Amino acid sequence: MRKVHLITFGCQMNKLDSELAAETLADAGHIVVDDESLADTVVFNTCSVRDHAEQRVLSRLASLKPRRLADPDFRLGIMGCFAERYGEELLRKLPHLDFALGTRQFLRLPEVLERLDREASAKPEKAGHFGPAGAESPGIHQSHPRARHQGIQGFVSVMRGCDNRCSYCIVPDVRGGEVSRPAEEIAAEVRALALAGAREVTLLGQNIDAYGKHDNSSLAALLRLIDTTAGPDTGLVRLRFVTSHPRDISRELVETVRDLDRVAAHFHMPAQSGSTPILAAMRRGYTREEYDDKLAMIREVLPHAGIVSDFIVGFPGETEADYLATRDLVEKAHFTTSYIFKYSPRPGTPSALTMRDDVPDSEKKRRNNDLLAVQSTVSSTRGATLIGRRFSVLAEGESNRNARRWTGRTEQNMICVFDAPPEGDTWRGRLVEVEVESATPLTLFCRVVGNDAQEQPED
Ligand code: 5AD
Ligand code: SF4
Repeated sequence: MRKVHLITFGCQMNKLDSELAAETLADAGHIVVDDESLADTVVFNTCSVRDHAEQRVLSRLASLKPRRLADPDFRLGIMGCFAERYGEELLRKLPHLDFALGTRQFLRLPEVLERLDREASAKPEKAGHFGPAGAESPGIHQSHPRARHQGIQGFVSVMRGCDNRCSYCIVPDVRGGEVSRPAEEIAAEVRALALAGAREVTLLGQNIDAYGKHDNSSLAALLRLIDTTAGPDTGLVRLRFVTSHPRDISRELVETVRDLDRVAAHFHMPAQSGSTPILAAMRRGYTREEYDDKLAMIREVLPHAGIVSDFIVGFPGETEADYLATRDLVEKAHFTTSYIFKYSPRPGTPSALTMRDDVPDSEKKRRNNDLLAVQSTVSSTRGATLIGRRFSVLAEGESNRNARRWTGRTEQNMICVFDAPPEGDTWRGRLVEVEVESATPLTLFCRVVGNDAQEQPED
């Protein structure tokens, strides 16, 4: 039995994979510990999306080197995207690293730890190596029991991998091609999560609109199935999905979101750039005009939808005019928020192989900061228009800053802060009706005007 501490970098998919890895470890009799100092095994779930993410893992691995070398019983491993890509090389270069498991292999964690223990007793100075190459873990695409899930938010993977070849992106290399999970399995997992206490479930896929495209299904059909399988009797209040590719998001999907009450009017639809020539160089498969059309379609069907975007600034060849086109998109699109990144060439990707990283870092920084400022102004203006509006907020718990205030999220995924419930009462996991009193770019400050508990009959 090992005491394992998992440290997660990267996206929601990685966080979910860590949760599934933890469940698998617990099923095999290991203990998953929150406190790193109590652990005899540390596993990093890694990200490769930008160079910075890789460097952070390397420095954390280096900081654990003395402990690993001093204690023959201590184990150090990596899983996830960086492990998939550089696992073999890191195992060769880092004598203190015991194993690397690729993105579809983390369910083998218990098996690997047991094997290391067996081999360690024979050869204590170096436990063993497990490269990322090899078969997928059995069960990786199947439904997971999830009965141990804690918290009101849950995540379910509906597909793994990505078939797009955006020229800057490492994901197809590290997460492989698209594999959609069977709809019934997903629906069963959502139901299990809800019964375990999750009130909001987010469906995850790198390119979720492509769900089911190989077997004549669709994300819209999946949402309808889940809506029936995980009915209100399960306690599920809200369903979300990320991430949408602007080319693939369909009117049928948006209408389905409109028609199903519990599916949140929230879309994460990364534009990446507002300039058509840059979008072409990125191989995104749409023009600026087509992106604008998708935005207009969503706003027409669901005027109150929250839309979130990602942008990369300083892509090879991005001129000032290209950047200004991106700026123009952010000014006009009224995104709830935008995640903005400086281009980071990923070795082996088409853009790194064929294009020179020719925008100087100082210029990338300037564009990054400028775009952040534009989005912040847009968010403030948008926030001001929401004053007096009412929202249903899924209450999460006490605010970190002030125990007398609570936080939660609207269906558009905006954070709300509102007064705490009366002593002894809890609103955790319930819908609370609030009215917006003031707003900052990222937060709505509200007063409570009702909560779903009041509507329930007394027992
Ligand atoms: N450089 C910078 N940002 C990137 N992203 C993906 N690849 C890169 C890269 N090479 C950003 C995209 C994506 C988000 C998850 O990370 O905006 O949507
Ligand atoms: Fe990072 Fe992309 Fe892997 Fe997520 S899928 S962990 S963002 S490289």
